[in-house]
Formats: sequence, C-alpha cells, structure tokens
Amino acid sequence: MPETITPMIGFIGGSGVYDLDGLEERRWVRVSTPWGEPSDEILTGVLSGVRVAFLPRHGRGHPTPPSALNYRANIDAMKRIGCTELISLSAVGSLKEELPPGHFVIVDQFIDRTFAREKSFFGPGCVAHVSVAHPVCPRLGDALEAAAREIALPLTRGGTYLVMEGPQFSTRAESLLYRQWGCDVIGMTNMPEAKLAREAELCYATMAMVTDYDCWHPDHDHVTVEQVVKVLFGNAERARALVKAVVPRLGAPRGPCPAGCDRALDHALITAPEK
Ligand code: ADE
Repeated sequence: MPETITPMIGFIGGSGVYDLDGLEERRWVRVSTPWGEPSDEILTGVLSGVRVAFLPRHGRGHPTPPSALNYRANIDAMKRIGCTELISLSAVGSLKEELPPGHFVIVDQFIDRTFAREKSFFGPGCVAHVSVAHPVCPRLGDALEAAAREIALPLTRGGTYLVMEGPQFSTRAESLLYRQWGCDVIGMTNMPEAKLAREAELCYATMAMVTDYDCWHPDHDHVTVEQVVKVLFGNAERARALVKAVVPRLGAPRGPCPAGCDRALDHALITAPEK
C-alpha cells in the first residue's frame, strides 16, 4: 500500500512578505537545527483546515542579506516542523519586456551563479548527488497556476530564474548577458534553496513576483531599492491572496509525489554504507 501523506504547506516569504494573515491556531515557533539557526521563528497555523508554516526568508524586519542566509537551517527547520511541500514567494527583476513589474512567473528552471553559500547537506563522509534536472515540482506548479488564475493574477507559467550572489544588483553587461542566455527573471535567493529542498526530499516551487526591469531596458531606469519596494507591497498583498487560494488545492491527503521529489535520495548516495 502506498503511504498516505497529510500535507503541511510551507511558505518561504521573500522581500516584502514577512507574515501571513488569516491563520487559525497562529503561533511563532523557534526551531533549532544541526546547521544553525534559521532566519527567524516559523509561523505555524491552520488555513482552510490545512496545516501551514511560514518562514520570512530574510527574517522579520529584513535583517539578513541573501549571502548571509543560512539556507540549510531554513530548509531543515521547515522539514523538521513537518512541511511536506515548500512554496517560495520571491521578488525578482525582469529580463524580458513581456514580464513587467507586477507580473507573476511560476519559474521552472534556475541558473545558479551564486558562489558564497553552503549548498548541500552532504559532504565528506557521506556523498550524495541528487538530480536537479527538474528543480520544481510540477504538482505544486499546477496548484499555483490554478490558484493564480482563480484570483486573476497576471501570470506566466514557466521561466528561467537566474540566481546571482548579490547584494549589489547586476551590471548592465551582466544583465544583457543573462538575457542572451534566455533567462526570464533574476533574483538572489532561490539557489541554493531549491537544491537543498530536493536534498531534503521536499516538493518545491517558486512564485516569482516581478518588481523591476533590472538595468537592461533602454526605456526604464536601472533598478533601485526604492523602486523594488514601491512595487513590492502591491505584490505582497497579492501573494497573500495567492496563499489563501493555493492552500485548499494542496491540502487533501495524497500519495507519494508523482514527480518523485520525496524520493530524491533513493538513487543519490554514492558513499558505501558502513559495514
Ligand atoms: N530582486 C528584485 N529585483 C532584482 C534584480 N533586479 N536583481 C536581483 N534581485 C532582484
């Protein structure tokens, strides 16, 4: 008999998304991990009868920059508290004319250009190579798409998210290069988050929320924090509506993930087991 899983939906909120409203049994919980402390306490509660958890990625008040986030602790803490799926809500810049500020993108690929972060739960003594060929869970993508269409968000399904180290924004040459690579949006956080979610055998998907045209667009000023923040709060409001629409679509007891996200380690360990 395949296992029946009662989902707990985890949300990781990026810039502008520091809380979730409408939860019953609302409680901020401190979770420690062997990897250190996550960005903040985790908000737990019940939404439409479904258990949910929420972690503000940068901490409440946004004290932690992208390179200093403890991504391993964040993912591990969400797993320890019981999450079975993770949805990342992330502010991004746009690399395409047709993805203007205020647009939402359910990305399905990433290019990881980060270099100053711990990226794996594995290391000397126990080596694993998980596949991230398809880093996003299509079941979560379907649920996000249906929910976004229900609340009439301007939406694109599919796209490549270039993850840069930051904290500075890109140079114009970099921005133009990423456009040549066919990337759609750019941000600073979804790697190594997506890789670690896969190692933790959690289903993962991203709703990217466009705040700016980065610095490539001839008709728009280069991105500034002021501009990002201006668009961010409108996006964050709609992200909260999206959470309310998506949770009921994912809450029913289910079998194993059809895409195998929850079995990612089955064929990934290369270190011989101890005799
Ligand atoms: N987050 C929001 N806008 C961004 C941009 N243009 N570059 C990197 N991260 C971002």
